[in-house]
Amino acid sequence: MDDDAHLVVGYVLGSTDPEMARLAATSRLYGAMTGAWLDAAGVGPGMRVADLGCGPGDVTLAAARCVGPTGSVVGVDDAARPLDRARRRARDEHLETVTFEQGDVLSWEPAEPLDAVVGRFILMHLPDPVAAVVRAAELVRPGGIVAFADVALTTRGSLPELPLLTASKGWFIETLRRAGRSVDMALRLAAVFHAAGLPDPVLTSAAPAERGGDAVGWSIVAGDVTSSLPVIERTGVTTAAEIGPDTFEQRLRAQAAAHDAVLLNPLVVGASARTPLSRA
Ligand SMILES: C[S@@+](CC[C@H](N)C(=O)[O-])C[C@H]1O[C@@H](n2cnc3c(N)ncnc32)[C@H](O)[C@@H]1O
Repeated sequence: MDDDAHLVVGYVLGSTDPEMARLAATSRLYGAMTGAWLDAAGVGPGMRVADLGCGPGDVTLAAARCVGPTGSVVGVDDAARPLDRARRRARDEHLETVTFEQGDVLSWEPAEPLDAVVGRFILMHLPDPVAAVVRAAELVRPGGIVAFADVALTTRGSLPELPLLTASKGWFIETLRRAGRSVDMALRLAAVFHAAGLPDPVLTSAAPAERGGDAVGWSIVAGDVTSSLPVIERTGVTTAAEIGPDTFEQRLRAQAAAHDAVLLNPLVVGASARTPLSRA
């Protein structure tokens, strides 16, 4: 953990409307990969599933489609705002098997034993990801599924290199490091599962590439910076005046369009394993 980690406690990205839009863009890019990860994990009809750090519910709803009408999925998050949005979406999709509960992923208790615990883009935000995976494994029945997906932020890049992308990548990564968070959790998942006492996980991955100024990924790059702006400033990485958050995305897209840049969105890896059939 970085020396400056004491500067930040809690979640770095907040739950503003722009942050909800950033998560929606992320889900568009990684929706297919998320389906493949849940599928490889074995999330299937009739299962009882929890989605930890569910945010606005994309993974919760994807899991609900996997488990069908005979299964159930509960989404858990400690922030009220994304949960409101998630509940609305589940209602709109008439998914009656889905519920949402407010709670901390490290202390939340399910009403009944689960077949699977999943979570996307949550471990990187937790000070002790191994403890979270240990906790997830305790919540499932023997032989149950533990599945987490996360991102490797250092793998994001473009050709040609764009000055605004290079700068913003540096700001975001340095901020997370100073906050004591992992910037490359995607590549650490196997080690985290091992440290949590689980078997070697099955891994699935995606790093979508897009071309030009209209790429979806530019709004995620801009959202990373604007959503974490209070923490960027608090950790002393840079200032709002240098970032220019109101015009940041527009300037980034203009640079991308001017150079017909190809954006390599960051690698996301999904890991899954089954808990032992008998507890040691
Ligand atoms: C980056 S978002 C990911 C949301 C969702 N899983 C997705 O993939 O779109 C992380 C979410 O985890 C929640 N979160 C962070 N720390 C948490 C904790 N200790 N307990 C419960 N939720 C937490 C945040 O409120 C946020 O909604």
